[in-house]
Amino acid sequence: MKDNYGREIHYLRISVTQRCNLNCAYCGAAKPDAGELSPADFARLAAGFAAVGIDKIRLTGGEPLVRDDICEITRLVKAAAAPKTLGVTTNGLLLAEKAEELLLSGVNAVNVSLDSLDRSCYRQLTGRDALTPVLDGIEKALSLGFRRVRINAVLLRGVNEKGADRLIELAKDMPLDVRFIELMPFSDVGESERMRIRSDEILARFPFLLPTGETDGTAVYYAAPGFKGKIGMISPISKKFCNACNRVRLLCNGRVKPCLGHPETYDLMPYIDDPEQLETAIREAILKKPAGHHFETDKNHTHALNRIGG
Ligand code: 5AD
Repeated sequence: MKDNYGREIHYLRISVTQRCNLNCAYCGAAKPDAGELSPADFARLAAGFAAVGIDKIRLTGGEPLVRDDICEITRLVKAAAAPKTLGVTTNGLLLAEKAEELLLSGVNAVNVSLDSLDRSCYRQLTGRDALTPVLDGIEKALSLGFRRVRINAVLLRGVNEKGADRLIELAKDMPLDVRFIELMPFSDVGESERMRIRSDEILARFPFLLPTGETDGTAVYYAAPGFKGKIGMISPISKKFCNACNRVRLLCNGRVKPCLGHPETYDLMPYIDDPEQLETAIREAILKKPAGHHFETDKNHTHALNRIGG
């Protein structure tokens, strides 16, 4: 359906948990404070979203794979909402173990968050010495033949920025896209502006990256000669793309969050037993979606990404 600004909303991101097995500073180190719905409840809500035109769903967290019943969630959501694309965004720690079951349960796209290929830098960023299992997870996903595997990386000035070349090289050797996301102000360190590496800084460092003219709504893609995959730039700050936003979010407790950059959420649980009322509640929430975020001026965000779903 269209929102109040004429944007076609057809993409739902479901945060299935606030829990995470990593502790990345920029994500906001909030302690989980919300209950988690059952797979059946997620499926009922997802059916409501499908009724208003959602045809693409991605499961996020927290870390979605820390839920033992993650494949039950994907299976039931797939059956209830029949999305054209069902994706999962994961930090990859448990991916090698769960990739096959995810694929069999209907997942066709996997995004893996990976900010550094240097073992000690990875540990510093995430709080865990877990680079190897993440790389194993990526390889496993590729070998199983998901429709799409992508890497998401956030570069921080003076922390992991020098490792951008190694991250880019992943797309040389493997059939996956590597996307750089500009740091958004979700943590309370209050220095995201100083730490943020803008997309144009990255492009200036790698002049062999050539614009393809392709975009998926958030990322703008670049190609490099001889590379198997593409490089994407996601620039929520330097090239705000709110006017092309096509998504809403469902939090793990059944509240819908129309915009990542605004704190408002609306509870869908009172309507979960009544498909008609549920559809109405979802439509109303989508119509409340704001025109855009104000990350460029907002400094004190309290909504950590592990609560919202990245
Ligand atoms: N700014 C930008 N991206 C972030 N992510 C988490 N926190 C932030 C932030 N403050 C990323 C994760 C993940 C994606 C869903 O969001 O690295 O890849």
